[in-house]
Amino acid sequence: MLVFRTCRGAFGQVRSFHVATASTAAAAQAKEKPVRNKTFAIYRWNPDKPDEKPHLQEYNVDLNSCGPMVLDALIKIKNEMDPTLTFRRSCREGICGSCAMNISGVNTLACICKIDASSSATKIYPLPHMYVVKDLVPDMNNFYKQYKSIEPWLQRDDDNVKKTTEHLQSVGDRQKLDGLYECILCACCSTSCPSYWWNGDKYLGPAVLMQAYRWIIDSRDEATTKRLDKMRDPFSAFRCHTIMNCTKTCPKGLNPGRAIAEIKKMLGGVAKKDEPQLRTAH
Ligand code: SF4
Ligand code: SF4
Ligand code: FES
Repeated sequence: MLVFRTCRGAFGQVRSFHVATASTAAAAQAKEKPVRNKTFAIYRWNPDKPDEKPHLQEYNVDLNSCGPMVLDALIKIKNEMDPTLTFRRSCREGICGSCAMNISGVNTLACICKIDASSSATKIYPLPHMYVVKDLVPDMNNFYKQYKSIEPWLQRDDDNVKKTTEHLQSVGDRQKLDGLYECILCACCSTSCPSYWWNGDKYLGPAVLMQAYRWIIDSRDEATTKRLDKMRDPFSAFRCHTIMNCTKTCPKGLNPGRAIAEIKKMLGGVAKKDEPQLRTAH
């Protein structure tokens, strides 16, 4: 029993020594790092409180205890200050596209957007000109409906024939998909486009048009004429006025404006799709 008490006493001393050391270290660290408060002014709107108008709510975050990206700050606010704050996120590395929002006036992905440590408040809104589901969550239904309308899958004349061989594609033909297939459908480009703001019901917008072009130009796809014919109207593609907001804002560094220009050239008969360098026999 005596041995046990002695051990417990010694353990207590060691533990208090550790606690004292840890708190001294924390105090020293706090001294070294003065609080770096940053204000985030975030758009709030709750459909369950229809009498409350949309407004900006401010939150102060100490950047010393926060990760470097805007998404880190949003997660910290939600976890530690206000669990009602609503936003989408998943991968936190610029892959899923779900954290797209308007940060300091620019459509981008919160997870790859560095916090601006300056003293001014960072304003965060949902993607512009979209219906809002809640806070920073836009309604993407129209966007996805438009994406579905371009039939974003490989189509071939032999689709009904059971095949056991792969569809061949040369290295050169495959390279034509570079800069197109990387799109993560975040909608930053479409929601930065003035034409899409005003005609979003009929104009497909840069994200969906770039995906349409990705299938039009694919050497293995045989539905080129059908795909182009669906866009031969004044709205689907021709509402693009080459303002290039889309390309400027794309957080993945892609160029939807160029893809739309290529579609317009094909629609106007100025350009046509090259013959495939490799063919798969039907
Ligand atoms: S082109 Fe860029 S901005 Fe547009 S949806 Fe794709 S990744 Fe997002
Ligand atoms: S280039 Fe076309 S799609 Fe891009 S922002 Fe301008 S009008 Fe919109
Ligand atoms: S969380 Fe997936 S792109 Fe930002």
